[in-house]
Amino acid sequence: MSPTPEDVTQAALARHADEPGALLPILHDVQEALGHIPSEVVPQIADGLNLSRAEVHGVVTYYHHFRSEPPGRTVVQVCRAEACQAMGADALMAHAEHTLGCKTHGGHGNTSADGRFTLNPVFCLGLCASSPAVVVNDKLLARMTPARFDRVIKQLAEPA
Ligand code: FES
Repeated sequence: MSPTPEDVTQAALARHADEPGALLPILHDVQEALGHIPSEVVPQIADGLNLSRAEVHGVVTYYHHFRSEPPGRTVVQVCRAEACQAMGADALMAHAEHTLGCKTHGGHGNTSADGRFTLNPVFCLGLCASSPAVVVNDKLLARMTPARFDRVIKQLAEPA
């Protein structure tokens, strides 16, 4: 039987609650185990750290990395930081939104209506010299073009 979200959260609290700045490592652990941070564990985290629910919720929504909803079956990240912007990241993001059926808003990611794709803007993947850079699931890809993006998605995406 797989652990419940509450079990996962309790284990993360037990690992980190005594550390300074425990909230971020706890959120990372929960998202790694569950794929997102379900809203029902926010009160549990808040109680465990003596924070308000609003504070925990604020951190989850502030950081682009954290998701409140389950991700699509294929997660695509497009770098929007300076070096990639200079090499066409805006056009690449617009192309990715169109191809995947995801509409990002400002710095926030979005999942396609069919649940197949999640598209997230990110800020520097450490590949600035080979920009623009994207990640498809966990695969880091440099010097991306719209045409190559479509080929990569065909190869790497989970089936419809
Ligand atoms: S700016 Fe995009 S990888 Fe660094």
